[in-house]
Amino acid sequence: MRAIGIERFGDTPGLMERPVPEPGPGEVQIAVDAASTNPLDVVIAAGGLAAVGEYRFPLTLGMDGAGTVTALGAGVTEFRVGDRVFGQFWGRPLQSGTFAEVCVVAAAPAFGALMAIPGAVPSHLAAALPTAGMTALGVLDRLQVPEGGTLLVIGGTGGVGTFAVQAAAARGIHVIATASAQLAEPVRELGAAEIAVRGGKPLGDALGGSVDAVLDAVGDRSITRSVAGAVKDGGALFSIAYGLDEPLLADERIRTANYELERKPELLAELAELVTAGTIRPVIGATLPLEEAPRALAGQVEVTGLRGKTVLQIGASV
Ligand SMILES: NC(=O)c1ccc[n+]([C@@H]2O[C@H](COP(=O)([O-])OP(=O)(O)OC[C@H]3O[C@@H](n4cnc5c(N)ncnc54)[C@H](OP(=O)(O)O)[C@@H]3O)[C@@H](O)[C@H]2O)c1
Repeated sequence: MRAIGIERFGDTPGLMERPVPEPGPGEVQIAVDAASTNPLDVVIAAGGLAAVGEYRFPLTLGMDGAGTVTALGAGVTEFRVGDRVFGQFWGRPLQSGTFAEVCVVAAAPAFGALMAIPGAVPSHLAAALPTAGMTALGVLDRLQVPEGGTLLVIGGTGGVGTFAVQAAAARGIHVIATASAQLAEPVRELGAAEIAVRGGKPLGDALGGSVDAVLDAVGDRSITRSVAGAVKDGGALFSIAYGLDEPLLADERIRTANYELERKPELLAELAELVTAGTIRPVIGATLPLEEAPRALAGQVEVTGLRGKTVLQIGASV
């Protein structure tokens, strides 16, 4: 089968011919309909998470995916052959990711989460949800912005940002999002009440008032430092991209953290409910065939509108 992977950490991801993986005890085999890329895939390929988890080579990349269960390993009771499933397929060990025609994942992945695709959600939308959607919901929970409060989202056009803007607006939060001038209108359509235009005034000055919380999805420490003073006493400044330095992390006036995704099964279930209800929808900036994944991971795919998620259409569109 075709897969996108690496022979060792540090390799440039490329197209490989791999044997179809068979499920071991506690694992399910899935025919992948669609997958989506994340910055995490690039970090894993570079060996940036070598100390976290366990990896076997050749390593097929890909965390997020959706498809149909084709075989069960011994002891699996959570799923049946023919079930449509989606999630973050991050197991221990990791060898058989979602950038492939067939993959294998633990029914209850050590680091990820897997569940049935809700109702009529098509696979390409389900594949776009897991990592970015769960991160957006998880960090919003930790920010604790009250209904009617104000949230600044730094990076409102990417995978996490487009989910965060929608989910926050649905909670009755007044969202200010950063975006380039040409993407201001699409970000407003996601639910942002105000846009802070990238390349305009420095963000700290552009705000013009205080906010209850800031969600940083970009990781530029000069930007997070410049907005910290705008957060109300007792408010929160969280980065999902390691955008907070030591002085900010030690700040006692506001709550600060470099957030890491946790509580994944609960968040995946909540995400599924929000999508089924039509409260949030994945924004897909590009849909590509599997063999284009290396270009996407290298940041070489031009997107004209909102970047959102990049989806790899691998099997039939279901
Ligand atoms: N902590 C966790 O558990 C966790 C989970 C998921 C992701 N992450 C991390 O969170 C970050 C965002 O993830 P993602 O999936 O949303 O990535 P993404 O889809 O690549 O989005 C990145 C966003 O940053 C914006 N951006 C880049 N440079 C900027 C700048 N100088 N000023 C303002 N905006 C800028 C991009 O805007 P344009 O589209 O206009 O370029 C885009 O909105 C990544 O670093 C990822 O590794 C962490």
